Amino acid sequence: MKNFYLTTPIYYPSAKPHMGHAYSSISADVIARFKRIEGYNVNFLTGTDEHGLKIQRAAEKQQKDPKNFCDEISRNFIDLAKKLNLTNTDFIRTTEDRHKKTVSKLWNVLEEKKEIYISKYSGWYSVSDEAFYNEDEIETKADGKVSKVSGSKVEWMEEESYFFRLSKWQEPLLKYYEDNPDFIAPISRKNEVISFVKSGLKDLSISRTSFKWGIPVPNNNKHVIYVWLDALTNYISALDYFEKKNKNQFWPADIHIIGKDIIRFHCVYWPAFLLAARIKSPKKVFAHGWILSGEEKMSKSKGNILDPLEIIENYGLDEIRYYLMKEVIYGEDGKITPENLINCINSDLANNIGNLYQRITSIVHNKLNSSIPLCKPKDNSDLKILNLVEDNLDLLIKTFNKYEIHNYLKDIIQLCSEVNKYLNDSAPWSLKNDNLEKRNIIIYTVLEFIRKISILLQPIIPEKTKIILDSLNVKEDERFIKNINKNFSIKPESKIQKINILFKKQ
Ligand code: ME8
Ligand code: MG
Repeated sequence: MKNFYLTTPIYYPSAKPHMGHAYSSISADVIARFKRIEGYNVNFLTGTDEHGLKIQRAAEKQQKDPKNFCDEISRNFIDLAKKLNLTNTDFIRTTEDRHKKTVSKLWNVLEEKKEIYISKYSGWYSVSDEAFYNEDEIETKADGKVSKVSGSKVEWMEEESYFFRLSKWQEPLLKYYEDNPDFIAPISRKNEVISFVKSGLKDLSISRTSFKWGIPVPNNNKHVIYVWLDALTNYISALDYFEKKNKNQFWPADIHIIGKDIIRFHCVYWPAFLLAARIKSPKKVFAHGWILSGEEKMSKSKGNILDPLEIIENYGLDEIRYYLMKEVIYGEDGKITPENLINCINSDLANNIGNLYQRITSIVHNKLNSSIPLCKPKDNSDLKILNLVEDNLDLLIKTFNKYEIHNYLKDIIQLCSEVNKYLNDSAPWSLKNDNLEKRNIIIYTVLEFIRKISILLQPIIPEKTKIILDSLNVKEDERFIKNINKNFSIKPESKIQKINILFKKQ
């Protein structure tokens, strides 16, 4: 089986998770599940990023020891992963030994290769972003200096620091982007990264001395390692990269899913560290957009957050997963408003997919004693519907694998509309005695369509599609994309199980 490795960002447990975090995680889970139904062996990593001044200050504010503070809040992220029905195969915390060991090792490798030197840093630092900014990236606002890149407050920092020779990797990075045109997606983000690198890279400060909450620099514990060098390493420490060669079959990662706020770290610093350490770089970084609250990014520092647990409670998990993947263009910003949510749930899920299932299965229950009819479609109009999914399958898979997940869903819904129309036009409920064979053919054709479409919708709405596929007696090991063909059709004369309403109208 071929391997596929994907990751979410590891989140700062400085406050409880919000809808923006849930969005990153859900989108990654949708991809993980899709690659599984394509037949891949998927390793799916998420976790929490627990060191650094931002966390230390958040803990101090509550008068807690930083480790205890992280234990508490990290728990919320672990619980959220379960609530979101994520199929992550691992959850890493950067305070774990397996991680700290790998970060120290990576430091040593970089030091052996003379990629690190000690000097003095003076410049602007944003604790909120845990990022250094150049003078030309700073502006003065009414309440002080802020980063033009993120809008976060910056403070002046001056201390002894180790540096990574980032400047040396400017040309190799540009070459890497050129040789690997799919490394950064979507394309708009790629241009942004290339112009940042072309504007000139300075060596990067990678240690701090003014606080303690971090991984100590090997052989100089006056310093702690810069939290982004620490955090990015999670992607290989979860594989125990330097120890267990067997897990390295997953490296390089196939895709890092991130929000567009952390592109510079993933597309510049991370591949530079890896190039310097002679480790392969990830195959792709995909930066999605922001979930907005009004016109602004939803964020804990702005205090304008939606609680994912509340939304799930009100609308249902699969409903939210569907909305986020269909109505927010993957790679662009998007909103969650009650009105849009309700419209989407009603029109796509309740009135389209749900209605199709309900109408066809109620005839089977009422007229056929729940038994799936035995019949063979022969007319072109029926065959067209019977083959609709197969005929569109290559295109659908390609669309998904370009990460145009919104288009994948739009296309699937379009097919459902077509089948609903077929059902309206052919009106099997009105066919009587001399036309029972035709009626049965229509029923069978639509049920087969539902089986196939449910297979394709599993990554997005896993709970609802499980109910559908269970009700049609489709075996667990026949729920893969390769089973979308006539050899695996639903079994005539088996009984459809009755289920409750699939999608409630809002
Ligand atoms: O940056 N819309 O952690 P973080 C969409 N620890 N996504 C959002 C979002 C929003 N409004 N708000 C947050 C960090 N996110 C670092 C990452 S990785 C080695 C270290 C998502 O808690 C988005 O994916 O600030 C963003 O990149 C991530 O949460 C940042 O979470
Ligand atoms: Mg952030």
